[in-house]
Amino acid sequence: MDRQPKYKPQAQSAFFADGRTSRGPVPGTVPQGFAAEDEARSTGIRDNMYIGQNPLTLTKPMLERGEKRFNIYCAPCHDRTGSGRGIVSQRSSCCPAT
Ligand code: HEC
Repeated sequence: MDRQPKYKPQAQSAFFADGRTSRGPVPGTVPQGFAAEDEARSTGIRDNMYIGQNPLTLTKPMLERGEKRFNIYCAPCHDRTGSGRGIVSQRSSCCPAT
């Protein structure tokens, strides 16, 4: 444990073409602690109140992606229509997802 095969921050490396061990953020990602400053956009809440409408400008590709994400992550409980009678709800002894 005293000696570990690891790079220290700011050290040199022959492994990466730029010679640095520290890597920059991956394009399209947000580092922890650097989330968007826009509270309404990131939480749906402004001044302790729900904002009541989506702050994003909706596009067809965005809606299609949202539908795909919903069908993957939410439909098992909520079903694809949001009725709350997804496969998990049907097979659980508990309440349906609303
Ligand atoms: C493991 C099952 C499960 C999954 C997966 C799931 N939910 Fe739920 N969801 C529930 C249950 C159960 C409730 C009801 C909770 C309650 O009434 O206390 C609920 C409630 C909700 C509510 C509140 C509905 C209301 O009328 O108040 C929303 C909104 C919601 N879910 C959205 C989502 C979204 C969006 C996803 C996918 C990102 C998702 N849920 C995935 C089980 C699930």
